[in-house]
Amino acid sequence: MRVLVTGHQGYLGTVMVPVLRAAGHEVVGLDSGFFAECVLGQAPEDPPGLAVDLRDVTVEQLAGFDVVIHLAALSNDPLGALAPQITYDINHHASVRLARLAKAAGVRRFLYASTCSVYGAAGDGLVTEDAPLRPLTPYAVSKVRVEDDVAAIADSGFSPVFLRNATAFGFSPRLRADIVLNNLVGYAVLTGEVKVLSDGTPWRPLVHAHDIAQAFATCLTAPTAAIHCRAYNVGAETNNRTVAEIARAVVDVVPGSKLVITGESGGDPRSYRVDFSAARRELGFEAQWRIPDGAAELYTEYLTRGLTTDGFFATFTRLAQLKALKAAGVLDDELRRITIGARDE
Ligand SMILES: NC(=O)c1ccc[n+]([C@@H]2O[C@H](COP(=O)([O-])OP(=O)(O)OC[C@H]3O[C@@H](n4cnc5c(N)ncnc54)[C@H](O)[C@@H]3O)[C@@H](O)[C@H]2O)c1
Repeated sequence: MRVLVTGHQGYLGTVMVPVLRAAGHEVVGLDSGFFAECVLGQAPEDPPGLAVDLRDVTVEQLAGFDVVIHLAALSNDPLGALAPQITYDINHHASVRLARLAKAAGVRRFLYASTCSVYGAAGDGLVTEDAPLRPLTPYAVSKVRVEDDVAAIADSGFSPVFLRNATAFGFSPRLRADIVLNNLVGYAVLTGEVKVLSDGTPWRPLVHAHDIAQAFATCLTAPTAAIHCRAYNVGAETNNRTVAEIARAVVDVVPGSKLVITGESGGDPRSYRVDFSAARRELGFEAQWRIPDGAAELYTEYLTRGLTTDGFFATFTRLAQLKALKAAGVLDDELRRITIGARDE
């Protein structure tokens, strides 16, 4: 199949593209390149790509693709809180526009990277895809709005599917150090402390980036009846863990590290345990990676590729990197690239 992957130069996209190519698909990327240079170790080999802002995509650019995989977004709550309106512009409006243009261009499937954050503060019971959505942040609200608005344009020729991914972990050449397991392992490697800023009690389901890639690959070729306008949670029940449990897995892997639970930050009220059986039952998808194996992988990769303090806090932290690009005059206040010509005007 001919597949367009938006956000192909991000953390998940960089892991997903080789998986799709290995499955025989022809992949083209689309990315504004916020984090293209934020690489730990050897640079990945990118597919051919369109260096355009999602907000400026045209129907011509979408012609000739069988499927669009839509990953591009401001990808976490701190970014959403920094600039809620830009989060809605990119994550909601530009995403719905992309889906409409894709449909008009004859694209038949639209695979959307949603999130388990849509469940918000869901308590201790396992939530299925039918659970009430209680998004708590502009980031999560934008994901719910895209699901609703894109579902509304589904028809016999256009099948959207919403993959509600758990929080990702694992190595990607375009690393993110701002997601929980990657963060805890990195901080422990650099300081010897596994530092939990909350009281450690919130539930945080996790899933390896490679398993997310596999779930998207599965949805590319699944029968239309199994994916048409469906939402699927992507993860594994065994990785439904509290933050304190995740931290203990890191202590087990980073020699000499010690656990510190500060309880200083109560700022993130998300807590949810998720049921992943629908994807198992209806798509035959089963996530393979467990948290201890992911912690060990990250530990090895950080050591061999030389993670530094600057990398950890700046290059591989999405919010810090976007602030740095703005301060350097690369991006304007709306996170659009400032061209030399425009700056000269
Ligand atoms: N990583 C996770 O834990 C996780 C969990 C659930 C859902 N998701 C979703 O998966 C997707 C990918 O996440 P990620 O971790 O790879 O994030 P990321 O920040 O590493 O990558 C996002 C990519 O989108 C691109 N992008 C952002 N705004 C753009 C714009 N206006 N035009 C063009 N490109 C733009 C960025 O340049 C970047 O390459 C996101 O939609 C995210 O919400 C991620």
